[in-house]
Amino acid sequence: MTTPRDAAFYMADIRNKRPTRRRAVAVGEFLPGANAFATVIERRLPKGDALVMAEIAGLQGAKMASMLMPLCHPISLELVRVRCVPVPERHAIRVYCECALEARTGVEMEALAGVNAALLTLYDLTKPVEPALAINGVRLLFKEGGKKGLWVHPDGMTDDERAHYQPRDLARLDGVPCAVITLSDRASSGEYEDRSGPVLVEALRKLGAEVGHVEVLPDGIDPLAERLRALAAKGVRLCLCSGGTGLGPRDVTPEALRLVADRPVEGLAEMLRSESAKHTPLAWLSRAEVVQLDGMLVFALPGSPRAAQQCMDMLQPLLAHALAMLDGRPHP
Ligand code: MTE
Repeated sequence: MTTPRDAAFYMADIRNKRPTRRRAVAVGEFLPGANAFATVIERRLPKGDALVMAEIAGLQGAKMASMLMPLCHPISLELVRVRCVPVPERHAIRVYCECALEARTGVEMEALAGVNAALLTLYDLTKPVEPALAINGVRLLFKEGGKKGLWVHPDGMTDDERAHYQPRDLARLDGVPCAVITLSDRASSGEYEDRSGPVLVEALRKLGAEVGHVEVLPDGIDPLAERLRALAAKGVRLCLCSGGTGLGPRDVTPEALRLVADRPVEGLAEMLRSESAKHTPLAWLSRAEVVQLDGMLVFALPGSPRAAQQCMDMLQPLLAHALAMLDGRPHP
């Protein structure tokens, strides 16, 4: 990703990012005071119904984000929903804007632009009856999707907000026995340090997995095949292998997986290649493979640390579900 260091400002270069599903919800409050609050809620304002007009303005505001904030990318919003919720105890109107799409960049600026436009419209329609108005607490409530999963503002969310928006975090692998094997002649002889194995171990541990076996093996079919059988027999549920999926003469990791496979899982291998191609066209050179061996899913991922991370980002939403199906459990 290029970052022009000498520029005073720049729009982020997102060309090599993979589009993912994203959602953001922003919130803010309009504080008109007790008298004007009643007038707004009873829809008696002279210019018209501020609550309806604010929802329309919120939609427009979200769509205008890239016009208002110069470094925001123009993005194709797939969902915008604006809500005005009266809070009588505080004479406040709490405004929410929810935006979602599948894209290479996040959608929080759209949600914030929507909330601001809605709040300013409430202000505009209320000022004929009350000049002492305030707008307060505009912030992102949460965002989800992208590589990092769910982020919730440190000020938190109320139970009602959680029930309404149902934010979704990454699907966890708590306590799932896992193994990570790096296939590389040079890393196994100590010629260079293995960097992709640690990337996979860290990603699995972040999801709560129990990574009990980590190993670097030389390229070759038999040692890996033997190890995979032993790991499956010990009850390991997920084995991530990295390296040896390319076209070099010693790249034989997929052959080892095929040798021990009970069943191939073609869809996941296809997904790894086609989603990776959104990062780099070289992804088509990987013979990434996925198989089932007893109760264990085995992945042969490409060997660079960057590829390992990218593949984990793609697989993460599917792993827990895939293991549940392997066990014959129903769809969660
Ligand atoms: N997949 C992803 N997601 N990201 C990458 O950077 N690199 C490719 C490809 N798949 C890459 C990727 C390259 S350069 C090669 S040569 C093949 O994976 C095979 O890599 P391997 O032989 O290390 O397994």
